[in-house]
Amino acid sequence: MKLLVLGATGQTGQLLVRQALEQDHLVRAVVRTPSKLTIRHDNLKVVEANIFSADSLVEHFKEQDIIMSCLGFPIGIISGVTGYTESMKAIVAAMHTAKVNRIIAMTSWYTKPESAQQSSWMVRWFLIPMIRNVLINMQEMENYLNRECEDLNWTIVRPPGLQNGPKTDKELLTHEGYFVPDLDGKPIANSVTRGDVAHFMLSLLNADSWIRKSVAMVTM
Ligand SMILES: NC(=O)c1ccc[n+]([C@@H]2O[C@H](COP(=O)([O-])OP(=O)(O)OC[C@H]3O[C@@H](n4cnc5c(N)ncnc54)[C@H](OP(=O)(O)O)[C@@H]3O)[C@@H](O)[C@H]2O)c1
Repeated sequence: MKLLVLGATGQTGQLLVRQALEQDHLVRAVVRTPSKLTIRHDNLKVVEANIFSADSLVEHFKEQDIIMSCLGFPIGIISGVTGYTESMKAIVAAMHTAKVNRIIAMTSWYTKPESAQQSSWMVRWFLIPMIRNVLINMQEMENYLNRECEDLNWTIVRPPGLQNGPKTDKELLTHEGYFVPDLDGKPIANSVTRGDVAHFMLSLLNADSWIRKSVAMVTM
């Protein structure tokens, strides 16, 4: 397939690009600093564009089968976080013009911060307050897709804490919700490797099961 990857210079994005190339997909990486992406492959094209401008994105979106986003934005303690919604509005506008219908984007467990009530003390009192602005803007982006993009085949992938590491052989667990629960309804784990997240995102290329849904995932 022809995949367009946003956030391809990031830690998950680079793993997604590598795995996609291993799976013989044609990959177009849209980045702001091309020199940051050091992967070289005949099936990889790296282009520079502004993720906040539909006009800048649209020429690169044409004839792509799917947009995959591993974009991430800083925690924005003073100024707040708007990158998720602002980029997604430009991405969706470009998708409409370029007639691309499918997008898979990653956010996180607990994009509704109150959903973390059953999580550990560390998550509730340290992690969530620290990244609250990120989670809130992720949730706003999810709501935008849910409420205003019914014509698109979107999927939101929600992982827990990300660890640097390749795809593992662990079992994949998924749940349509803000985290993956154990039998008692509590979060079943805290983390997943970025390689497993990339692998799960790519597995969705051949599945219709999570269309217009947000899926929490983890491997154990
Ligand atoms: N850290 C965790 O434990 C955790 C847990 C769950 C979910 N997440 C979320 O998962 C996603 C991926 O995480 P990650 O750690 O793989 O991300 P990352 O390494 O921080 O990469 C972020 C990507 O977004 C790009 N980006 C940021 N601002 C941009 C801008 N203004 N214009 C163009 N590109 C821009 C970066 O480009 P540059 O390389 O040019 O900066 C980079 O490619 C993020 O949304 C993150 O919040 C993280």
